[in-house]
Amino acid sequence: MKSSNMAGAHILATGSAVPDICISNEILSTIVDTSDDWISSRTGIKERRLLPQYQSIIDLSANASRQALDRGGLNPEALDLIILATSSQNDLFGSASQLQASIKAKNAVAFDITAACSGFVIGLITASQFIKTGAYNNILVVGADILSRWVDWSDRSTCILFGDGAGAAILQSNRENDILGFQLNTKGTEAHQLSIAYKLNKENIKDIVPFHKLHGQYSWIQMNGKEVYKFAVSKVPESITQCLDQVNLSTEDISWLILHQANQRILDTVAQKLTIPKAKVISNIEYYGNTSAASIPIALHEAFAEKKISHGDIIVLAGFGAGLTWGTVIIKWHNC
Ligand code: ACO
Repeated sequence: MKSSNMAGAHILATGSAVPDICISNEILSTIVDTSDDWISSRTGIKERRLLPQYQSIIDLSANASRQALDRGGLNPEALDLIILATSSQNDLFGSASQLQASIKAKNAVAFDITAACSGFVIGLITASQFIKTGAYNNILVVGADILSRWVDWSDRSTCILFGDGAGAAILQSNRENDILGFQLNTKGTEAHQLSIAYKLNKENIKDIVPFHKLHGQYSWIQMNGKEVYKFAVSKVPESITQCLDQVNLSTEDISWLILHQANQRILDTVAQKLTIPKAKVISNIEYYGNTSAASIPIALHEAFAEKKISHGDIIVLAGFGAGLTWGTVIIKWHNC
């Protein structure tokens, strides 16, 4: 909880961007052995958006960021920090600096956070620490992923799940504090359940010379769907409950629950375990599939754009995924 001499972290504005290309379950059924019925009933997904080859994650992130800046009436030069949460950066050294250049935020320092589907939650919490200590006043947090480029399009157990997108939020120093508390966890011993691992060529393991052969490549997304499912429905409710306790709130106080949009059955089960009515659970998985780090900020933006969120609402965001990492942030939104 913030102490009285700390600045408040207020969500000034949000934005989102998804590619125009829409791939329905019917279209996917012509690529792999699956059906609209199987995908809809197991996941709730009906379609997903895919980024064309000539566009990059920076284009998507910049579109979401510009929308957030416009809605907040903020000049990009007023940004002090840009945090890009992504696991599909187009440069291993990080992509946030390219986003900084693209939106002409010349006064902002920029860095990436890689925490898969929990990336936006961790990015938002990180940003709030810089605000609360008074280090920075205006921070852009972007969650963006283009996992379509990391999916094996012949693997029906994973390719049906993912889509591309970006979402953005501007956190601003304010007398009102929107970020009430957070709770984060990692269980690295389970990292193998969901990964995009880098593998050296086998021949190089025995003989590391000659040096020019010291190359490998990233594999496609590998996921143990059943284990990830079980992990999500058991650990996410625990995290939310712990976080609510920390800030002296109960599930009845929740106005909106925004979970990482991985699978409609996960959303339903988590809400059921917490006895949160369906009407309070924000879901757009039908239209975008699992957009990884982008899913929570896209859903948050749509809730703001549709004017669902009003002054004083309690919004619970919970992310979970590769790592395995999961966590919750609790927001009380002030209309100021
Ligand atoms: N179409 C048709 N049949 C399929 C498909 C498909 N697309 N995929 C799998 N099947 C088949 C399997 O081969 C299996 O057949 P069998 O019984 O003859 O062997 C059967 O359907 C059941 O497969 P399961 O894998 O047991 O299906 P399940 O009900 O577990 O659903 C799913 C799979 C949707 C992936 C689910 O496990 C899930 O959502 N897991 C969680 C994934 C997740 O949340 N990831 C979040 C993190 S993402 C991140 O961090 C980047």
